Amino acid sequence: MSIDLPFHRPWLEEDEINEVVDTLKSGWLTTGPKTQHFENDFKEYVGARHAIGLNSCTAGLKLAVISAGFKDGDEVITTPMTFPATSNVLVLERLRPVFVDIEPETLNLDVKKIESKITTRTRGILPVHFAGHPCDMDVIQDIARRKGLAVIEDGAHAMDARYKGVPIGGLGNPTAFSFYANKNITTGEGGMLTLDDDARAELLRAMRLHGLSRDAWKRFGNSGFAHWVLQEPGFKYNMSDINASLGIHQLKKAPRFLKLRQEYAEIYDQAFRDEPAIEIFQTRDYALHARHLYLIALKLEQLTITRDEFLNLIQATGIGVAVHYIALHLQPFYQKEFGYKAEDFPIATRYSNRVVSLPLYPKMTHEDVARVIDTTLGLIKKYRK
Ligand SMILES: Cc1ncc(COP(=O)(O)O)c(C=O)c1O
Repeated sequence: MSIDLPFHRPWLEEDEINEVVDTLKSGWLTTGPKTQHFENDFKEYVGARHAIGLNSCTAGLKLAVISAGFKDGDEVITTPMTFPATSNVLVLERLRPVFVDIEPETLNLDVKKIESKITTRTRGILPVHFAGHPCDMDVIQDIARRKGLAVIEDGAHAMDARYKGVPIGGLGNPTAFSFYANKNITTGEGGMLTLDDDARAELLRAMRLHGLSRDAWKRFGNSGFAHWVLQEPGFKYNMSDINASLGIHQLKKAPRFLKLRQEYAEIYDQAFRDEPAIEIFQTRDYALHARHLYLIALKLEQLTITRDEFLNLIQATGIGVAVHYIALHLQPFYQKEFGYKAEDFPIATRYSNRVVSLPLYPKMTHEDVARVIDTTLGLIKKYRK
């Protein structure tokens, strides 16, 4: 059977379409006024001093990492329960990702385990706000301050999340967001790096576009033709105005989208709470959960099927599902390169084999949500030991 209730569908309306058409007709397609408009709205939205529009969240992580003052072989503490981009960026900059096991309640990195992983080579912490649930940032910031470590936040899932009332992106650390097609708001492909440090933001604005800087030239007092100046070789990570055209309107709809995500997540929680073969996850008191992903974990000891068999069975009914994630310490590259083993991070290993992400997006209807629930509970009932 083909998938008729996909894992995700973006919600794009006439205003996004009209804005893209306006951009196409304007003759200015690359980084320009629409990107600037989106950046300004976004920095207001999260309460950051700067927002830099990029072509991905991965680019944002990379820019944050290259500007953190790390040296080859330095260690950065992060979570194994993430998308490879988080940690690949470190490896590609010749840094050593040091994983910390996760907490079972939220699947975020367990902040209580960070200090035991700090060595003389540790220089940074890279928390991921998993599924849209913020990490306990007070604890992380306190450790970072005491030990002199840089903090870079992976906010790929965390657009709209809040920590103790403060939006993720507004805590002062460089924070990278994703606007990939399935994120809480989308630009098709795209990302944003927010930060508060003025000088670092100026450097990274240049680094996102080959290292070219016009502002630098202005500083030298030339008021005529706007030459660019190359201070350092940079990357090609800039957001285009075509992508920003989507972002401008998606951002305005973010509160409406979040409300629907929260409502559907609550319906899922209610439906699965009393099913003994399903584990659901918690929201900490300090957190406003962005509800980017809705995960359940299967209690395999109560079932006659594996998680992967469950995935095939539910997809056979036409419902798209996903896995977030098979943790990075189980991936061949990280095992070969850093010698990580399954037993090093028992909680991440346990959930890697049990988690299922069910569809959760505003474009779903209440009927869609009910169908996912009925199908999930039906399969659990059928394959219970
Ligand atoms: C946790 C996490 N970090 C980083 C990324 C990379 O985002 P992008 O595809 O925008 O580069 C993703 C992508 O889904 C992600 O889930």
